[in-house]
Amino acid sequence: MPLNGSPLFCEWSQSLSFQGKADFRSDTVTRPTAKMYEAMAQAPLGDDVFGDDPSVIALEEYAADLFGKEAALYVPSGTMANQIACRTHCRRDAEVLLEATSHVFLYEQGGLAQLSGLQPRCVVGDRGVMAIADLETLVRGDDPHFPVTELLILENTHNSAGGAVLPFDTMLTAQEFTKKHNMRLHIDGARITNAEAATGIPLADYASCADSISCCLSKGLSAPVGTVLAGDREFISQARRTRKLFGGGMRQAGVIAAAGLVALRDMRARLKDDHIRAARLAEGLNGRDGFSVVAPDTNLVYVSCPGKAHAFVEACAQNDVMTLALNDDTLRFVTHKDIDDRDVERVLAVSLT
Ligand SMILES: Cc1ncc(COP(=O)(O)O)c(C=O)c1O
Repeated sequence: MPLNGSPLFCEWSQSLSFQGKADFRSDTVTRPTAKMYEAMAQAPLGDDVFGDDPSVIALEEYAADLFGKEAALYVPSGTMANQIACRTHCRRDAEVLLEATSHVFLYEQGGLAQLSGLQPRCVVGDRGVMAIADLETLVRGDDPHFPVTELLILENTHNSAGGAVLPFDTMLTAQEFTKKHNMRLHIDGARITNAEAATGIPLADYASCADSISCCLSKGLSAPVGTVLAGDREFISQARRTRKLFGGGMRQAGVIAAAGLVALRDMRARLKDDHIRAARLAEGLNGRDGFSVVAPDTNLVYVSCPGKAHAFVEACAQNDVMTLALNDDTLRFVTHKDIDDRDVERVLAVSLT
């Protein structure tokens, strides 16, 4: 039965608004769509730890198909998906190659070491892109002094590099490199759907470069919770064990997975609008008040504004605009479903003087 007329739906839909504020802090702030609420209310449920929640199964099957992989796993967060992938791919004496400003290295509390006893080895990239040829010298030889180089992680799109899309050629070269050295390749694809929207390259092509890929449903795709992790059947079956170990086994998870399925199916096509708004915002901010902004590939706009970030956040707040100062020199604005053209204009109307 459609929920649109019900009091419950009215209450829900009120929560869709941000009480007049434009929230640019992250695409994670997006509220579910009416269609998601309906799917959640009507989701058939089971117990996903027993493997019999039909809504979780439907999401996992859809994701596996979309990413062209044998299987997929629904997990609570992007962080957990990455950590499960690393733990599942690697033995205890392993070293993981990854970019120095990657999410896994910077923002997951050193989880590789804390959770899995893995040693990260960082490589500085150019806008998040590592020169794959330079990795050759980092692969450890067969020597009992050394850890074993087992895994390479790529992040696409790259958050700290301003939502930069990793060139597809780099991904193919990385795949060749990992195959040559009998390593695994994991893609932190928290925003891989933004890469798809920016380049038109299908998700299955991106996924075909790697042994595993994660994709967040709760960022630009606007689901309330969750990430999917895709790979071959054996990897996903081991990853399911690791998910339980990390406390990510959920019970009637279908209630949120149902929204995730709507997100993955229906919300990818509109991401281009976020990219257009991010470009407009970047163009409007670049050069004013001593700000400099690199034109974004996708929906993240990093603004270099030496010594002015906190003052600008404060000035935005006066105008009912919420944004993030990463430090006093850098601001981040993120465009998403709940930001419209007027919200962009509201930011551009903010002045420090
Ligand atoms: C590139 C990237 N990977 C992983 C994550 C982690 O996702 P979550 O916040 O769901 O743990 C984020 C979150 O912003 C991200 O930007």
